[in-house]
Amino acid sequence: MVGAPGRRALEDRLRALREERAIDFCVVNGENAADGVGITPKLAERLLAAGADVITLGNHTWRRHEINAYLERSERVIRPANMSASAPGRGLAVAEAADGTRVAVVNVLGSLFLEAHAHFFDVIDDLVDEARAAAPVVLVDFHAEATSEKVALSRWLDGRVTAVIGTHTHVQTSDARVQPGGTAALTDAGMTGPHDSVIGVKADLAIRRMRTGMPTRFETAEGGVRIEGAVVECDPETGRATAIEPLRVPWP
Ligand SMILES: [Fe+2]
Repeated sequence: MVGAPGRRALEDRLRALREERAIDFCVVNGENAADGVGITPKLAERLLAAGADVITLGNHTWRRHEINAYLERSERVIRPANMSASAPGRGLAVAEAADGTRVAVVNVLGSLFLEAHAHFFDVIDDLVDEARAAAPVVLVDFHAEATSEKVALSRWLDGRVTAVIGTHTHVQTSDARVQPGGTAALTDAGMTGPHDSVIGVKADLAIRRMRTGMPTRFETAEGGVRIEGAVVECDPETGRATAIEPLRVPWP
């Protein structure tokens, strides 16, 4: 989700969407909550109150220093596991879904064009083992730029986790699928935020920075707000996915 428009859409519609579609568990990527970059404890609390069970982050985790201490103690807001072990927070959360099923959420950062402390392939197997020991349903938010990395990780984890959902590009891909081993995958979940923009930023500002190479202060756009994501259906006992459907809801 991105900025105030994304947050307002979730505060207004997420509870109803969960009800309408019988969604038992909801993960929101919140690294763009604070004016387009980073997240504050207050905003994290608002997203949790709006109906998120777990909030994941990404390359913008540290943009707001207020979040550091919060990440140390939060059990529901996580940052990519392959950031430094010396940094606050963790990359794995376990929480209970509305039907009582335990769900583990794993957050990892891609390597291409992003500054991961460790390569995701060096941490993912141990992380998934830990998640599987804690919960039958395991969701992976792979925050990455490159489609190749996202497809590769989805294949690597096929049969070991319930779903691998990509975030970070803000553009929803049309490759939602359940792989042969029972792992649902989507290269990118898209953006809950203003689509009349350049991935959430006012288009003229983003274009000016690209054209001139000069520092330009970004502002979050306002128009064309949509709630985007994916709905995954799974067997709560085995954790195997049975269906995945991209979500694309105009708001208001
Ligand atoms: Fe990102």
